[in-house]
Amino acid sequence: MTEELGDWKRTHTCGELRSADTGRTVTLMGWAHRRRDHGGLIFVDLRDRTGLTQCVFNPATSAGAHERAQSIRGEFVLAVRGVVARRPSGTENPKLGTGDVEVQASELKVLNEARPLPFPIEDDVTVEELVRLQYRYLDLRRPSLYRNFVIRDRTCQAVRAYLHEHGFLEVETPFLTRSTPEGARDFLVPSRLSPGSFYALPQSPQLFKQLLMVAGFERYFQIVRCFRDEDLRKDRQPEFTQIDIETSFLNRDDLLPLIEDMVRAVIDRVHGVEVPRPFPRLAYAEALARFGTDKPDLRFGLELVDLTELFRGGEFQAFQQVIAAGGVVKGLAVPGAGGLSRKEADDLVTAAKSYGAQGLVWVKITPEGLQSPVARFLEPIRGALLERLRAAPGDLVLIVGDAMPTAATVLGRFRVELAQRHRLIPTGGYALLWVVDFPMFEWSVEERRWQAMHHPFTAPRDEDVHLLDGRPGEALAKAYDLVLNGQEVGGGSIRIHQQVIQQKVFELLGITKEEARAKFGFLLDALEFGAPPMGGIAFGLDRLVAILAGEDSIREVVAFPKTQKGSDPMTEAPAPVSPGQLRELGIAVVDSGREPRS
Ligand code: AMO
Repeated sequence: MTEELGDWKRTHTCGELRSADTGRTVTLMGWAHRRRDHGGLIFVDLRDRTGLTQCVFNPATSAGAHERAQSIRGEFVLAVRGVVARRPSGTENPKLGTGDVEVQASELKVLNEARPLPFPIEDDVTVEELVRLQYRYLDLRRPSLYRNFVIRDRTCQAVRAYLHEHGFLEVETPFLTRSTPEGARDFLVPSRLSPGSFYALPQSPQLFKQLLMVAGFERYFQIVRCFRDEDLRKDRQPEFTQIDIETSFLNRDDLLPLIEDMVRAVIDRVHGVEVPRPFPRLAYAEALARFGTDKPDLRFGLELVDLTELFRGGEFQAFQQVIAAGGVVKGLAVPGAGGLSRKEADDLVTAAKSYGAQGLVWVKITPEGLQSPVARFLEPIRGALLERLRAAPGDLVLIVGDAMPTAATVLGRFRVELAQRHRLIPTGGYALLWVVDFPMFEWSVEERRWQAMHHPFTAPRDEDVHLLDGRPGEALAKAYDLVLNGQEVGGGSIRIHQQVIQQKVFELLGITKEEARAKFGFLLDALEFGAPPMGGIAFGLDRLVAILAGEDSIREVVAFPKTQKGSDPMTEAPAPVSPGQLRELGIAVVDSGREPRS
């Protein structure tokens, strides 16, 4: 039997009461987390988002409340009125903030009942993710998950406060729009009013924020949903949130410190930690050479070492061929990892091949010497090898000879994997850095054409503009990524604001004048109407919050995320629509021969 709330008012939250409140009459509301019958007494832990309070139903205090308490099951919604008392000595619970007290209940209202749950509301329960997502509203009742949303909220608060303080204006931009240039597949929305035509959901507000600069808004930001139809991973969702920022009249070195201070304000607000500034900067080429990635995790060392010169002219034929063909030999020493079995070593070789390397040389450093399938080729250079790698007995050394960047990226993956496996990554710290000086273009071997490394509106460095004619592969961009603990949390650039250069970049990217006009005509027009110098950045809010919350997957910081297959087990989206809806949109669905993804 449930009751109405009536005129009951909650006086305290379930996480609030302390021994100083002893003697107070209070009214608490929340969920029955746990019920225990102890002889005549019934104990109910009442839970709300702030914590738990133990409520005691004693027939001597109120026979009616005690009787009603007998019907309480897990997750019933309750209102409890009673007096705060100290718990009898020896029964305190030091793990709870409210653990010194209990509420001796005199009145109880059951506000709602609950069916038996598909999983208990506990932090350390291992439930299949599909089930968690199907009952996400129950999953979100778990305190550890709720905490992630407090962190998310604080992050947004800190961002808004900081940016407003610095003259930024929050502006919304359209969701129903034309394709935007981030390079993923678009989500399309059919238009009923223009049958056969489609809106694209924005992959980012890139073009609109540039137009706001042409409009003279000078400092814009938005915490905004973006949509990308790409293969999903634990750090990618089809819809995700950006902290999107654009400014006018600032060059890179004015902008980056402004952004650094925003990130510092966030970390301070969320964790009370002061991050030093300026953040280190690494050129893209250096990041790749030293860490094998453009998002190095600087919480730990394990840098890659160039061994090309050491192997040049040596006896190991495989490396001679690589070097003769213009490739490199790179090595990595992993402290204390030399105890691996033959099978584990072979697995590393298999992994290296799956990462794209032709092979992998592994070397165990033992007090007796080198243990490796190719030890005899290494013995002549053992001293120099160990010195260059700073390797010692007990360590594992991995060496890859291959073209750049393959050699570096393969070792870069091992650097992170082995550091994780051997617990060489300190937890709790924030290693922030800027990666700068990205190339403007990368050559797509499959498509045999240049592609923009960031997006086509990224400006080349002033000193590199001349390279666009003839040596575009060497031109570096005014682009920058912010990396936090080995993840790209933000990326941006100074933009092209002059029509001529924009036109040239389009040409290099194989975008014809006609295509450019058809796709981005409005932007090209705008660039001719007094566009100021501009630049900005976008942060992946979900990624940033996931790292701040210590979560591995961004799904843990998104209220209602999609599965890896892009579906929502709760609403069962995406779903077929009625023939009538399709008719109205002028759409016929053909059988693609593909199984629908579930
Ligand atoms: P970019 O494409 O680098 O830049 O995106 C900016 C940041 O957004 C995050 N991100 C994602 N997060 C979750 N799921 C995804 N599918 C996903 N894709 C990207 C990343 C990334 O660093 N318009 C430019 C920014 C600019 O130039 O100002 C842009 O969108 O953390």
